[in-house]
Amino acid sequence: MTSTDPFRVVCVVGARPNFMKIAPLMRALAREPHLASTLVHTGQHYDEAMKASFFDQLEIPRPDVDLEVGSGTHAVQTAEIMRRFEPELDQLRAGAVLVVGDVNSTIACALVAAKKDIPVIHVEAGLRSYDRRMPEEINRVLTDQISDLLFTTEGDAKENLLREGIDAERIHFVGNVMIDTLLHNRTRCRAAPDVLSGLDAPARFRGESGFGLLSLHRPSNVDDPVVLQRLTKTLRELSSELPIVFPLHPRTKACLEAAGLGPTLGDSILTLPPLPYLDMLGLMSGARLVLTDSGGIQEETTALGVPCITLRENTERPITVTAGTNTVVGTDPGRIRATFHDILATGGKRGHIPELWDGHAAERIATTIARWAETHASP
Ligand code: UD1
Repeated sequence: MTSTDPFRVVCVVGARPNFMKIAPLMRALAREPHLASTLVHTGQHYDEAMKASFFDQLEIPRPDVDLEVGSGTHAVQTAEIMRRFEPELDQLRAGAVLVVGDVNSTIACALVAAKKDIPVIHVEAGLRSYDRRMPEEINRVLTDQISDLLFTTEGDAKENLLREGIDAERIHFVGNVMIDTLLHNRTRCRAAPDVLSGLDAPARFRGESGFGLLSLHRPSNVDDPVVLQRLTKTLRELSSELPIVFPLHPRTKACLEAAGLGPTLGDSILTLPPLPYLDMLGLMSGARLVLTDSGGIQEETTALGVPCITLRENTERPITVTAGTNTVVGTDPGRIRATFHDILATGGKRGHIPELWDGHAAERIATTIARWAETHASP
């Protein structure tokens, strides 16, 4: 690299929740005159519904490199991403590798870069559920340990990182790039009734009293047929009071089919294929409540002011509970029912928007990287 070459940031995406995070970053990096970016897609998610529509709707540039790894066990998927990323990285003259979130693609590419002495930038650093049974928790802890620049979304993240011995100078509180995308697209999405009409939803899902929105895909909730049956039984009961719209992640669809639970959901739960981002945003904005085990949806509902019931025992995003609209209930039917009824009766937590969730996180990140690159670019 010569001193006149721009500092190249190799950005990595792999799975659905990465796409909304990378979109504003690609735009912001493109606006920095001394930075250049390259986009690598690992192919962890490959279904059209899990991939193509996101690139189009979020106006993400086509990836420069597609590693096409597909699915596998954690070890196979992670190893395959590493094996395929390494030779590509050798060609890319990277100043740094930027990874987002906590999926297998995040740790795999961070590890390849770190071993090559290429600085790693982690966006959405420091979130902790303190539950090491979650694959994402392992990915988060390890990625942060080998990152040179760590960008955080909420106050607790810095405390977590400091406790793990990360140097305070590397940590930058910048806000939330996923919320950048939400605010950027909020006026572009259709209203929920239009989304539902477009999906041919029966009239009961489009009535005056509204609908609930459900997303479920965590291995801890869907892989074990006993847990999945307990959840679906409770949700079916509740759907008689408020119809529930349920876009299915491929993992969840497969698990419901394997456990023979699909037909037991009843007429008041509407299952759908995975939805494009704008349709999901339209439904989320118009829902009376959202039930989820996703991380990102806990944040999006907080930003939208829509009550969220989190079907997990913990959250790595505590700001959504302390400031936002989120209530973490786990999978106990009694707790799910009580929170559901409370929201129907009272409208649920109002919440407020967390600090710096203002639509400008990606710009702050790009500016910080540009400044940092001035002192860290190789001669
Ligand atoms: C991954 C992330 C999770 C994230 C989720 C969002 C990890 C460890 N997990 O979980 O944090 O919340 O993405 O969706 O990285 N499949 C398809 N088509 C696809 C992708 C997956 O059919 O395009 C099916 C395959 O059967 C695959 C299964 O879904 O085995 C699981 O996919 P995988 O990428 O391993 O993890 P996710 O459950 O999607």
